[in-house]
Formats: sequence, structure tokens, C-alpha cells
Amino acid sequence: MVRRGSQGDKILHLLRQAQGFVSSQEICREVRISRSAVWKQIESLRRKGYGIDGVSSIGYRLSHLPDSFRVLEMERGFEPLRIGSRILVQEETDSTNDDAWQLGLQGAEEGTVVIAEMQRAGKGRRGRRWISPAGKNLYASILLRPPVLPSEAALLTLMAAVELCETLKETVPVAPRIKWPNDVLLGGKKVAGILAEMHAEQESIHFLVLGIGVNLNMTQDMFPEDLTYPATSVQCVLERPVERVPFARRLLKNLDQGYERFLQDGPAPVRKRWIENCAHISDWLDVDTPKGVVRGRFADIDEEGALVLEVSPSRLERIRAGDVIRLSRGKGRLPAGNG
Ligand code: BTN
Repeated sequence: MVRRGSQGDKILHLLRQAQGFVSSQEICREVRISRSAVWKQIESLRRKGYGIDGVSSIGYRLSHLPDSFRVLEMERGFEPLRIGSRILVQEETDSTNDDAWQLGLQGAEEGTVVIAEMQRAGKGRRGRRWISPAGKNLYASILLRPPVLPSEAALLTLMAAVELCETLKETVPVAPRIKWPNDVLLGGKKVAGILAEMHAEQESIHFLVLGIGVNLNMTQDMFPEDLTYPATSVQCVLERPVERVPFARRLLKNLDQGYERFLQDGPAPVRKRWIENCAHISDWLDVDTPKGVVRGRFADIDEEGALVLEVSPSRLERIRAGDVIRLSRGKGRLPAGNG
């Protein structure tokens, strides 16, 4: 029995179900189209990147899948508890965060994921843009309905940064590090970022959109020069392209498990794992905040995900929004002008 969908989808489904070749008579019968229509559909699938062997008098066989997120939409490759229960893939869109936000307003279920091959107006944190060329990277937004206070939402972005690190560790032989709040670095350069947008009232979150951008196959010359922090991609580090679909599958699986652990065990393990992956333990930091640059030594992450900086020997300052713009290693006196 062939499921609903376009003729191409139905043929693909038949080929994927089969262990080997499927005869064109069987395809004609199951999809209810003529032999020449089968041939046209096979050609169109090949143009989309599906490897399909054809042997006259035997039939067709699927030999490889394209590295297109459509594959992920059709087949997750894992049984999600929540994240990835529904995956929507767009060829292009303004911003997957905006799409997931609309779905949130329409009451879409928790765990819905929107992925795009390209974003026309990808959004970064603090009003910045996110460079989103077609077919190169991962742009994904996840709709969550977490049963926590709005003040605790930042912990979910820390959880996502930790799971991004875990996924990168499965992919590259270089240890990823997190720069507060949730920039992920490889070799000291930014490879991924997270933009969380929340629809909430004082005491409860209606929904949260976790937008994740990972530079996978961009080359160094594709990054603009006016970036706030040096950028890199997985390809730049590996010196070869990475397969995007398996990467996205591993990331969604890790996020699904990480979110489940957060719901079961609360924030303490997330904070611990965040610190284990932190790029700047005990370092001196310059942090760009809405009130100006604050200097101090990294002291901790508090129970709501805020950065705790030692700005003078007797004073700690909590920072909820901002960017670490400079890290400097080693011992030293606290910089002048603080406290
Ligand atoms: C940052 O500034 O570091 C956050 C970048 C977040 C980019 C992702 S790409 C998918 C999602 N859609 C967007 O428009 N932004 C996020």
C-alpha cells in the first residue's frame, strides 16, 4: 500500500521499502501511472540528487539519498519523545524562528521543528543578522512549551548549547567550547549560535522558540568581514564538507534527550555540563551589555543562566543579557575602572 503524496514521493517510498530492485510494472501498478510517467518521475528524482540505478527488464533501485533536509522530514531515523515529533522543511524562508513563532501562535505541538535550506532574513541575537546561504548550513527552530517560569527560560538555551557541543564532538576531532551565553566555538571561532524567543506572561511561558544556526559547509571567504566575533564552519575545521542530514539528525536526537533530562532532573545538571564545556572558566572577560561594557573575571553561571562576573575583589555582578566580546587568559589584577 503506497501512502499519500506526490507521484515522486510514492515512487521514493516504494524504492525505500524494497531491499533491491522494483520493477517498473510494480511501480506503474502501485502508483497508478504509465511507464513513461514513471521514467519522467525517476529523472526528476535524480535531478534532486537521489541516486537511482535503472536496469532494463529488472527495474529501479535506490542507491543513495541527497544531503537535503527533505530526507529528514520524511524519515527522522530516531523515535523522538518530543523534539522532532513533527519536522517541516522549507526550501527558503525569511526566518525559521518567525515560522515556528507563527506555528506556536496557531497551537502547534511541542517539539515541532522548522528547518530551511536558506533564510532570506536570518536573525541573530541582539538585532544582528545571521548569514544563511542556501544548501550550506543548518537553520532550525524548535517550538517548546516548557513548564518553567519565564525567568528560567535561559537555562533551555544553555541546554541547547551543551547539546550542540555534544553533537560537534561526535563530528569533529576538536573540542567545542561555549562562550556565554550560548555561542559555540571551534578553535576559538564561532561555529554556531542560538536565538531564543519567548511568548510568555509574568508567571508562565506560552511557548519558546529555540533557533539554532550551525555553520556547516561555508568556506572562510563566505563570511563577511564586519562580524562581531571571528567565525568558522565545520568544513573549515575538518577541511572537507560534512553531511548535513546526519548532523541535523544527531543534533535533534541530542536535543530531544537533553530536554527530557532537563524536565526530569531540573537545571543543576545543565549548569554543570555547561561549565564543563565553557570557553572561559576563570578568564578575564569584556562583556558587552545593554548598559555598556563590563569587565571582570568569570565566576559562575547562576540558577537562571545569568553570567556572574567578579568585577572587583569584593563585588560580583550578574549579567542577564549581553555578549562576551573578549577573553583573556591567565592571572592578573582585576582591570582598573571596576567596582
Ligand atoms: C546568534 O546571534 O548567535 C544566534 C543565531 C541564531 C540563528 C538561527 S538560524 C535558525 C533560526 N532562524 C533565525 O532567523 N535565527 C535562528
